[in-house]
Amino acid sequence: MSPINADVLIIGSGAAGLSLALELANHAKVIMLSKAALESGCTQYAQGGISAVLGKDDSFASHVEDTLSAGAGLCDSDIVNFTVSQGPERIAWLIEQGMPFTQVSDSKGNINYHLTREGGHSYRRVIHADDATGRAIVSTLSTKVNAHSNIHFLENHIAIDLITGSKLGLSTSRCLGAYVLNIHTGKVVVIRTRFIVLASGGAGKVYLYTSNPDVATGDGIAVAWRAGCRVANMEFIQFHPTCLYHPQAKSFLISEAVRGEGGKLKLPDGNTFMQRYDSRAELAPRDIVARAIDHEMKRLGCDSVFLDISHKPKSFIMDHFPMIYQRCLALGYDMATQAIPVVPAAHYTCGGVMTDRHGRTDIDGLYAIGEVAFTGLHGANRMASNSLLECLVFAHAASLDILAQLKEVTLPPSLPDWDESRVTDSDEEVVVSHNWDELRRFMWDYVGIVRTSKRLERAKRRVDLLYSEIHEYYSHFRVTNDLIELRNLTLVADLIIRSAQLRHESRGLHYTLDYPEKNPIAQNTVLIP
Ligand code: FAD
Ligand code: SIN
Repeated sequence: MSPINADVLIIGSGAAGLSLALELANHAKVIMLSKAALESGCTQYAQGGISAVLGKDDSFASHVEDTLSAGAGLCDSDIVNFTVSQGPERIAWLIEQGMPFTQVSDSKGNINYHLTREGGHSYRRVIHADDATGRAIVSTLSTKVNAHSNIHFLENHIAIDLITGSKLGLSTSRCLGAYVLNIHTGKVVVIRTRFIVLASGGAGKVYLYTSNPDVATGDGIAVAWRAGCRVANMEFIQFHPTCLYHPQAKSFLISEAVRGEGGKLKLPDGNTFMQRYDSRAELAPRDIVARAIDHEMKRLGCDSVFLDISHKPKSFIMDHFPMIYQRCLALGYDMATQAIPVVPAAHYTCGGVMTDRHGRTDIDGLYAIGEVAFTGLHGANRMASNSLLECLVFAHAASLDILAQLKEVTLPPSLPDWDESRVTDSDEEVVVSHNWDELRRFMWDYVGIVRTSKRLERAKRRVDLLYSEIHEYYSHFRVTNDLIELRNLTLVADLIIRSAQLRHESRGLHYTLDYPEKNPIAQNTVLIP
């Protein structure tokens, strides 16, 4: 049970955590945690790329306008301006770290970075590394992180809860440390630190079908809430329109860039349909495309719609989408000759822990960056590829803020050990697995792409019951990774349902049949613990 000390504890090793660690490490001792392997987060799976104003004809004003328009009136325009204006510098920083973005040569033989297009963007402004941008980010940054003597990386360590002055009844409310379970040994360690940064990603696993990997259980949102932070806009869960429909593919994403490069959505009879829903057709923002697909699937009673890029030459498809092409081929679909079946799946958590433009939360010494945070950038619907940009911009902003305070803040005194005196080993693991499945199914059925007040009430009754069962279980049994995650998932599901119940309108990703119109005044849904 020996405590471990650090200047900064970063919870999460995705784009946000890795870039922050590198920005701090020349000046501060950093511990970075991942509850699984380093590359377990959503970042590793990011395909399309990172949005930034890099094209000759593009402008900050246009990127800002597109982001505000996708966000359906709910973005914080100062934060949008701030984020967009930092884009080119953050991309330059990534290139300095060695990021291998895809390049093309123009007619005069000049080499440029290739920019692709995605929904909602008026220009080509998505810089990428083929169709596996996230994998390249993780590999580039993790090589540097692993080589840095000031960064101590602990994998298979899951943060359970934060330790704050308020929880200990001290005169300060500051964040002082965290209880962390070593998943392999089953021991809980105390990490004492001057600053903590949540970089723990989103909560896609709340839903039965998701593009997210298993670690996306909303832990950062749950621990921040339990520590006393406000969370906002949790009802805005983004469903990606096109995940491959295949029993063995575990919601494999088909990048929006496939539509950006000319892919068409089709019904089982081969007809296109997106033009009936929006003049931008396949390149409308995601909420519109996902809802249109959901509507057509329900109308026709079919299991999927189809995405067709087979009119493009095979060489074009293989050049632009080598990873997606090979994965589909392995699963029996040749994108170059046939349309592939696709369905929507939960993809991105637009809401999260409320922060300011430095990534500061409501608790002194606690920051949140990346998908776990609510900065105000995304509003009611995140525009494609603005997420990785947000990770980089807010990691940088938080690093500057932390470094400016490093000398003033001292390491906290010793902190209490984790108390296991009143718990025993679990005797009924089935409670965890059953509740896990039940939660994810009713969230999909009742709190999905199209909502009603009745469905939300049903979901609320069920989540309350699960919450009390899990709370009782948690009080009696030794913590395990699954139990910690389920406790967090249930809390996050409750926050999503409560936020959805408070929004009496349809806006962006929140669509309810009981309130189909948009209110004249746009307001965030802020929940206070
Ligand atoms: P993540 O990369 O999700 O990392 C979270 C980390 O936190 C992991 O290391 C995890 O182990 C750790 N963690 C979580 N809880 C705990 C805990 N309790 N204790 C310890 N560690 C913990 N966005 C774009 O902008 N462009 C794209 O092209 C794009 N494509 C995408 C494709 C897919 C398939 C998916 C799923 C998402 C995509 N996104 C894309 C969204 C984007 O990838 C994510 O929003 C972004 O990568 C989140 O980064 P992050 O650093 O906040 O968190
Ligand atoms: C994609 O490539 O379609 C994902 C992009 C994103 O989620 O921003």
